[in-house]
Amino acid sequence: MKDRINRRDFIRQSAATGAALGLGANSVRGAVFNYDRANTPAEKINIGFIGVGARAHQVMGDVLSMPQFEVVGMCDAYKGRLDRALERTGGRPKVYRDHRELLAAPGIDAVYIGTPDHWHKDHAIAALEAGKDVYLEKPLTYTIPEGIEIINAVKKSGKILQVGSQNISTPLQQKAREIIASGRLGQITMIRASVNRNSPGGAWHYPIPPDASEQTVDWSMFLGSAPKRSFSLERFFRWRCFSDYSGGMATDLFVHLMTTIHYIMGAQAPEMVVAASSLYRWKDGRDVGDTINAILQYPEGFTVNLSGTFNNESGGEQGFQVLGTKGSMTIGRRLSLVSEVDGDDNGWIVDSWPSELQKGYYRDPKVIASERPNRWDPNVIAEEESWRGVGRNSTALHLENFVKAVKSRQQPVEDALAGHRAAAVPHMINLAAKLNKPVYWDRTKESLKS
Ligand SMILES: NC(=O)c1ccc[n+]([C@@H]2O[C@H](COP(=O)([O-])OP(=O)(O)OC[C@H]3O[C@@H](n4cnc5c(N)ncnc54)[C@H](O)[C@@H]3O)[C@@H](O)[C@H]2O)c1
Repeated sequence: MKDRINRRDFIRQSAATGAALGLGANSVRGAVFNYDRANTPAEKINIGFIGVGARAHQVMGDVLSMPQFEVVGMCDAYKGRLDRALERTGGRPKVYRDHRELLAAPGIDAVYIGTPDHWHKDHAIAALEAGKDVYLEKPLTYTIPEGIEIINAVKKSGKILQVGSQNISTPLQQKAREIIASGRLGQITMIRASVNRNSPGGAWHYPIPPDASEQTVDWSMFLGSAPKRSFSLERFFRWRCFSDYSGGMATDLFVHLMTTIHYIMGAQAPEMVVAASSLYRWKDGRDVGDTINAILQYPEGFTVNLSGTFNNESGGEQGFQVLGTKGSMTIGRRLSLVSEVDGDDNGWIVDSWPSELQKGYYRDPKVIASERPNRWDPNVIAEEESWRGVGRNSTALHLENFVKAVKSRQQPVEDALAGHRAAAVPHMINLAAKLNKPVYWDRTKESLKS
């Protein structure tokens, strides 16, 4: 009850802040972003925000820059973020007490969901059942079975659901997919992918806003169906560190890598996963690892070697190497292609044969055609091509893909099934590490093999 009173109070205070800034419901002056009603196209998507945390503020920046959207409502469990979101939107959207109130309000076509992972399923299904199209942040799920529930809810509702692993909407990753499909890399049997960070923020030891307290944070709203615990600002603002709300590095970061790998390879899910997870350094009360290594075997005929560390960033924050018999592709800030050097080199083997036989070997036309005379010849170099992504950022492009889906009523590039599979792999990694044994995927059931 106490929480409820606080919540109502702080919503009233948030609305008052907007008004004090001269950002009333009909005002467009003072908006931080280009948000001019004069540019309004006839058919805007009225969008509500469930959760206006750090990521939602980034996404809101892009949403506000797109004339296809009108931000009309929002709810959150911390007053400071609502205040900032009102400031960012020129005070126009309505603040609702919680997602239920927002979803019951008239005139909202779609919602962005940017809440902690343990809330994703409930928020997504409630929104679909309320007839909204949904842009849901990654990872789709907090547990594997939730994925099936969301997939079914999408089907039943006939609504659109886009999952928020935005990188697959970039021309760079689309190009990577095209190159792989063309066969230029030959037979691809191995992909190495990694996430590397080395800072407190990178390890989610985020600063806590000084005004956060039981008066400004709605603890029970945050907890939802998570285990009951006493009020904790660490848990509220650093929820990724705790398995009550998140699957840690695997579900938070590897999920992006998995979305990309599945997209560029046209793959579904690995049949087997083994993994090891350790907490070596960030012993701040968290119960998730800071170092994870995993091996994923895909029935499509390749293996993924996945690694993540919060203790070194020398390899760049995120990267992929796609290794084929004819060439290798690196995906990072750039997309680079290096061809393998053709030809065989058995010189050191035949150098141990009787000399007449060695000479004869090199007179054979088949050998002449296949052997490189000297593997280390400086004139024998692999060809390299490289592309750099320019233009709009990945989130804006992913939102554009969502808009296209909403208008065409065709599911977007990362639908619920793609999101389910991308999130299932991190869940398998966590489980394999916990059980210290391989775990297996059942493709027919889209779930763990029992
Ligand atoms: N796509 C990306 O690149 C990307 C980047 C960062 C985060 N994310 C995802 O975005 C989501 C949010 O992450 P974040 O970093 O913004 O976390 P955050 O803690 O900054 O934001 C979460 C917000 O949800 C609010 N909240 C909690 N329970 C709520 C409830 N029941 N109803 C309404 N609001 C509630 C919190 O008050 C908070 O403001 C996560 O799923 C995360 O994985 C995606």
